[in-house]
Amino acid sequence: MKAFITGITGQDGSWLAEFLLDKGYEVHGLVRRLSKPNYENITHIKNDVILHTGDLTDTASLSTAAKKVKPDEVYNLASQSFVGASWDSPIATTDVTGLGALRVLEAFIRDNDCKFYQASSSEMFGNSTGIINEDTPLRPRSPYGCAKVLAHNLTTNYRESYDIFAVSGVLFNHESERRGLEFVTRKITDAVAQIKKGKLDKLELGNIDAKRDWGYAKDYVEAMWLMLQQDTPEDMVIATGKTHSVKDFCEKAFKRVGLDWKEYTVYNKDEHLRPAELDWLKGDSTKAKMLLNWEPSTNFNDLVNLMVDADLKRWDV
Ligand code: NAP
Ligand code: GDD
Repeated sequence: MKAFITGITGQDGSWLAEFLLDKGYEVHGLVRRLSKPNYENITHIKNDVILHTGDLTDTASLSTAAKKVKPDEVYNLASQSFVGASWDSPIATTDVTGLGALRVLEAFIRDNDCKFYQASSSEMFGNSTGIINEDTPLRPRSPYGCAKVLAHNLTTNYRESYDIFAVSGVLFNHESERRGLEFVTRKITDAVAQIKKGKLDKLELGNIDAKRDWGYAKDYVEAMWLMLQQDTPEDMVIATGKTHSVKDFCEKAFKRVGLDWKEYTVYNKDEHLRPAELDWLKGDSTKAKMLLNWEPSTNFNDLVNLMVDADLKRWDV
């Protein structure tokens, strides 16, 4: 089996590549040409995967890769994935995160016998007050969320129009030791490690009352693969069903190293508050449990601890 992953250098792409290599797949990935290559997450598997230079904004590069590889499965994980930055660059975000999915569908999927996975997001639901499932209305509150809705709807539309196997996994927040440093969980664990090692004085945060349904990325990439192994294409919510605040995360992370979070954390409203915030997210992945027999295996406590421990090790220089 041949898989093609867009976003292979990202958190999920790197975990998924590893997972598919273990299953015996030939793994291909799309990488952008950068002045300084960003292979940190895939250094350990770089010789086992086949990389293709391209960009989600460049249809020609996608068509070339599609013709060359002819994959059995395509996982579209590439995205401008930082919600906060989507207000600064709404057009670029929509181009990559929204239209990018359409370009992948056109280049790889429409006329080919190839399964397609789209990385949809809980950010599409906006400020929902109840537990979210596959039937919850989409009411995005960020340019990123709007772009994800576009990609999500196009995936459904192509499935219904062209009788193809295309699914959207609606994933709630998932983190890991490979998470980008600007996301709040990794920002916290990295700062905790630096503070513990005497390299940083304070951690500056925005809305610490925001609540998220946080799972472990390694668990979530298995769900992506399982969705493509079904007989019929079905969109599914992937979540833990448990919600914690940024404050909870912070408290636990500092506690892991024996420190009190209140002594080291400062609030910067101007820098970190978003024009429209999501206060609370909680997902219901009953459908995934029923159809995929998927359940998260890493709880909130273990997630915080493993991320802090990894950052402590990184700063152990
Ligand atoms: P990530 O770590 O930010 O990775 C994003 C990837 O997209 C990187 O490999 C990046 O490449 C690539 N990329 C960005 N712009 C590109 C472009 N124009 N052309 C080609 N590649 C481009 O994100 P992640 O956490 O792994 O998330 C994977 C996907 O799931 C994303 O679509 C994200 O929006 C979605 N999602 C994530 C979560 C979550 O909690 N993690 C939840 C729901 C949905 P560079 O390395 O070159 O920057
Ligand atoms: N990044 C960041 N930095 N967020 C902060 C900070 C800070 O200093 N202080 C408070 N927060 C709050 C944000 O306002 C938000 O409410 C929450 O922490 C989580 O922010 P992020 O970690 O940036 O994640 P996100 O929920 O906005 O987006 C992530 O999850 C989505 C799924 O719901 C990303 O991975 C998206 O790509 C993904 O789709």
